[in-house]
Amino acid sequence: MASPFLGRFFVFSIIFFLQSQGEEEESPITRFQQYLGFKTAHPNPNYTAPISFLVDQAQSIGLTTRTMEYVSGKPVLLVTWLGSDPKLPSILLNSHLDSVPAEADKWIHPPFSAHRTVDGLIYARGAQDDKCIGVQYLESIRNLKSRRGFSPLRTVHISYVPDEEIGGFDGMAKFAASSDFAELNVGFAMDEGQASPGDEFRVFFADRTPWELVIRAEGIPGHGAKLYDNGAMENLMKSVELISMFRETQFDFVKAGKAANSQVISVNPVYLKAGTPSNTGFVMNMQPSEAEAGYDLRLPPMADPDVIKTRISQEWAPSIRNMTYTIKEKGKLRDHLGRPIMTATNDSNPWWSVFKQAVEATGGKLAKPEILASTTDARYIRTLGIPLVGFSPMINTPILLHDHNEFLKDTVFLKGIEVYESVISALSSFEGVSDQAI
Ligand SMILES: *[C@@H]1O[C@H](CO)[C@@H](O)[C@H](O)[C@H]1NC(C)=O
Ligand SMILES: *[C@@H]1O[C@H](CO)[C@@H](O)[C@H](O)[C@H]1NC(C)=O
Ligand SMILES: *[C@@H]1O[C@H](CO)[C@@H](O)[C@H](O)[C@H]1NC(C)=O
Ligand SMILES: [Zn+2]
Repeated sequence: MASPFLGRFFVFSIIFFLQSQGEEEESPITRFQQYLGFKTAHPNPNYTAPISFLVDQAQSIGLTTRTMEYVSGKPVLLVTWLGSDPKLPSILLNSHLDSVPAEADKWIHPPFSAHRTVDGLIYARGAQDDKCIGVQYLESIRNLKSRRGFSPLRTVHISYVPDEEIGGFDGMAKFAASSDFAELNVGFAMDEGQASPGDEFRVFFADRTPWELVIRAEGIPGHGAKLYDNGAMENLMKSVELISMFRETQFDFVKAGKAANSQVISVNPVYLKAGTPSNTGFVMNMQPSEAEAGYDLRLPPMADPDVIKTRISQEWAPSIRNMTYTIKEKGKLRDHLGRPIMTATNDSNPWWSVFKQAVEATGGKLAKPEILASTTDARYIRTLGIPLVGFSPMINTPILLHDHNEFLKDTVFLKGIEVYESVISALSSFEGVSDQAI
């Protein structure tokens, strides 16, 4: 049996060791931890402190900074590394400042403590989504400048935007629509991706576009005992069946392994509203004159919005069945030239080849490019016709965005810096394209 004295000494040494680690000089890991410590979770993200931290970091590396405020209290930070030929289209690296909330009592370490375990796991809200890339961009440039004496041909911009997690309307949407953005003359952009549980980096070339669909039926009210045609409920239920059938055909492609979830049109019922209220619930012997259903639709970029609209107006909510509908489009499916909003991931896009080779040069492998099932700020940039890939270099990492106990392993974080060194140096040295017609 070990003597209690030795046991205690051992524990004391570990604590001492950890404390001395904690007080060690600044490193990419400690700077990541500092950035993770800022409370930028909704509903009350404070953007002041992280922005002043990032400005300090950028200035310490010798980069210039600019803060824009399109909506009061919602700053956009732009960090710039000037290229030797600033007339060439630039490279833009984006990330968002905010994060979703965290239920602290469900976490094993406080979500804003950025606690690093002895195994190197750094626990924090935002560790994966997406404060990792925000720091990695800067750290890789720090290394490119100081260790390799590298200077870019093209200008490299890094943007930090607010409010992505609540739709980006006051953040990237405003920034992308501004003349400030147009003046950056962006040729190629990168934004967040997602962790990969396997050993291939995931990469995203499009987002799906959400639509909110509400269908309504009107009909003659009637006694609950009466069989008659064209009641509101009956008309609505016909549509519900048709929509369910369409949903099945889409889902069958996924179940048969012919398509990923994000490649099909998803349509999911989110509410049903009908009935005549009574004191105890609903009047049971009466068929109501109005009925309504709400659906969440997600459309991949290849989907033809006009075809879907025709289907909705002729099958799902036809006026001949006394139905009406509203569609709230939460984004566009076509860019200003009418092209699907997606980035080519083949030889037709020279930026893609440069990016892919740069990742491979670090010994990494890219998985088959994917469509993101949800949406990010990337859509605002792709809509402008600018090619953009979503990429967060995290392999062998469980997907924990928006989950309890979000973490990133220190070695994965550090490897990501190396990957960006390769990617940023390659993209910013790329002489090839000078126009954006890709
Ligand atoms: C945000 O944080 C800064 C620095 O920590 C603090 O001075 C400021 O009062 C905070 N702002 C709000 C609105 O909470
Ligand atoms: C539509 O409404 C009109 C007027 O209430 C009614 O006469 C007709 O039967 C309804 N048609 C259908 C298909 O519900
Ligand atoms: C490259 O991909 C785009 C978009 O996915 C496609 O339209 C085009 O035909 C492809 N080009 C080549 C050369 O494979
Ligand atoms: Zn994110």
